[in-house]
Amino acid sequence: MPDAAQVLDALRQVRDPELHRDIVSLEMVRDLQVDGGKVAFTVVLTTPACPLRETIDGDVRTALAAVPGIDEIDIDWDSNVRASFREGGPAPIEGVKNLIAVASNKGGVGKSTVSVNLAVALAALGARVGILDADITGPNIPTMLGIPPGALASGQQGLHTIDAHGVRAASIGFVLPPGTPVVWRGPMIGSGVRQLMRDIDWGELDYLIVDLPPGTSDASMSLCQDALVAGVVIVSTPQRVSLEDATKAVSMFDRMGVPIFGMVENMSSEVFGTGTVAETADELGVEFLGEIPLDIAVRKGGDEGVPVVVGAPESPQAQSFIRLAEQVAARCSVLQYAGEARVA
Ligand SMILES: Nc1ncnc2c1ncn2[C@@H]1O[C@H](COP(=O)(O)OP(=O)(O)O)[C@@H](O)[C@H]1O
Ligand SMILES: [Mg+2]
Repeated sequence: MPDAAQVLDALRQVRDPELHRDIVSLEMVRDLQVDGGKVAFTVVLTTPACPLRETIDGDVRTALAAVPGIDEIDIDWDSNVRASFREGGPAPIEGVKNLIAVASNKGGVGKSTVSVNLAVALAALGARVGILDADITGPNIPTMLGIPPGALASGQQGLHTIDAHGVRAASIGFVLPPGTPVVWRGPMIGSGVRQLMRDIDWGELDYLIVDLPPGTSDASMSLCQDALVAGVVIVSTPQRVSLEDATKAVSMFDRMGVPIFGMVENMSSEVFGTGTVAETADELGVEFLGEIPLDIAVRKGGDEGVPVVVGAPESPQAQSFIRLAEQVAARCSVLQYAGEARVA
């Protein structure tokens, strides 16, 4: 009959394919029980959105096949998202393990669409997720999540989060009567973002997605200076003008010492092109995180307040966002274990 030490030795042969260390030393194996030929344990992944669960499952079973006497393997899956940390960096937001910014230098490329679908996809995969609308002058998150603009405008409680589609959202649009423009100057925008981040009770979150306005603006600067950003996702459409702007965004975040998780190609299509964002990512030495097709279901989901990931989870469009969410979560885990930020 096998004993626990033999089982652990076998499991030490299994490496996490992205963290490049064995799952025992990573403390991913918990509650091991060996009862005759029956082996049971829990594998604790670094994120519920882990894209490698099936690979790890297969590798674990292969490794245990080498141990004589095992006739039953019972694996429980769990996850525990680590909090990001950077020596000498700004303080994290209270209760928030990882702040993930979504940015580009250009408007209309799909930052808000990507933010919303990324957030609901991470939540659907089992993470605790928030979304912060940092586009103070053009807050679109309420509409995209189906929250009536001005939902909190007449309340006495001021701005607080509203839950929608499994994510906790906050937007200046909640407290503005519909149609009211925000005509603040730069410094006020910066402090507005700061207040949204710090003064709101976010509860406990694994990931807080921050939808940034276009440009190397006050909002982006404030965010990076005032809060610990785990990493940034750069959105670009395939056209050259968008790539030029996205390239500037990469260098701005790089200069600010913010890790870049990678680039997403949004609106891939015959009209706009396809593959150019992956090429640019390669040239810049950053990861390519995936592509989202230009598709009517994505646009309708935004207009109707039901993100495509929620409205049609099995559709190819939703699946492309789910794969993106897995890649983003994986990059986040990898950077934490690398110990220090790998910037472009
Ligand atoms: N992949 C896509 N397919 C179709 N429409 C999209 C796609 N991505 C974004 N859109 C639409 O394009 C418009 C601009 O997107 P938005 O997310 O608001 O961009 P940004 O936040 O960068 O300004 C919205 O109407 C949105 O629904
Ligand atoms: Mg936007």
